[in-house]
Amino acid sequence: MSDRAYIIRNYRPEDFGELVQLAARVEKIEKSYCCTSSQNLVESLGRPNHFPENNLFVVEMAGDIVGYLDVMPELNIGRAVLSYLVHPEHRRKGFDKRLVECAIDRAGELKVKIAHVNIPQGNAMAKRLFSKMGFRFVRRFLELRLDLSEAKVPRIDQITSPCRHLRGGEEGKLMEIQNRSFANTWGYSPNTVKDITYLTGLPSCSLEDIIMAWDADRPIAYCWTKIKPGEDEAVGRGKGRIYMLGVDLDWRGRGMGKQVLLSGLSHLKSKGIRIVELTVDSENKAACALYRSVGFEVWTSGLWYEKVLA
Ligand SMILES: CC(C)(COP(=O)(O)OP(=O)(O)OC[C@H]1O[C@@H](n2cnc3c(N)ncnc32)[C@H](O)[C@@H]1OP(=O)(O)O)[C@@H](O)C(=O)NCCC(=O)NCCS
Repeated sequence: MSDRAYIIRNYRPEDFGELVQLAARVEKIEKSYCCTSSQNLVESLGRPNHFPENNLFVVEMAGDIVGYLDVMPELNIGRAVLSYLVHPEHRRKGFDKRLVECAIDRAGELKVKIAHVNIPQGNAMAKRLFSKMGFRFVRRFLELRLDLSEAKVPRIDQITSPCRHLRGGEEGKLMEIQNRSFANTWGYSPNTVKDITYLTGLPSCSLEDIIMAWDADRPIAYCWTKIKPGEDEAVGRGKGRIYMLGVDLDWRGRGMGKQVLLSGLSHLKSKGIRIVELTVDSENKAACALYRSVGFEVWTSGLWYEKVLA
């Protein structure tokens, strides 16, 4: 089949359902190989200031969507993050180079200096494609996993002050501590209250899943957990995630990171979660040491590739 049978076009709102179904189908077939997930896609499509009609390209063949490439702009740090997915039956058909070119052109129009893409370590095809298109490996992010049935985690009712669940109306405080904790961290794009309100309002998020430590009315540390229903198929229950975790610079090295992490883990345990996962930059020595100290182990990794745009 000629690669010209594949049409690359901009996303339209009516593509939403088909696109999410495609991502869910591919995710099921080859989870650890996917450069994105259906949940990431849904969250990214609605994100403030994304405009998928301009920034997302779909690949269509005989009226069906068989792949896409999303260009998420992070203008405040001058980069765009690409997320890429093609159904296995439609790989090696010759259109992938055209698709990446569309994304690079779009990143250029957005006037960002850098394009980044995260590729699972086992996905040789994506590595080859992006290398051919001028991307180079810059960073390894580790995927860690913990089995709560084997970890020493205090019961949720043993967790005391200064930690408590986030309450409605405290989204600004969450933004404050998140931006303070991650200031100048590689790849972190500071959030606005609008971003945080969007993220905490998603069906996959509950304020109860966010643990925050306070010094009077100042947030000093937090652990943002998530529960993905039905993910842990082996035991027929949800899988937990440490989505974000940070400590104010002034409070580091005093056990606060460990305290909010253990609070987050005991919250997940109280919800019946057994397996907890997270992603951490392999160069973030403090975070790696913290996660290792409670028993997290590496199970795979994702590789960030970068292209510097002219
Ligand atoms: C990672 C972070 C949360 C650690 O918070 P913290 O309050 O300083 O950590 P704690 O004092 O609770 O230390 C917890 C463990 O990590 C180890 N650790 C903390 N900082 C460390 C450092 N700079 N180097 C090596 N180990 C370190 C401690 O030795 C301790 O281990 P122990 O309990 O076995 O003694 C904090 O540095 C931070 O907010 N970083 C920026 C945001 C970030 O990177 N978040 C994680 C993203 S995945």
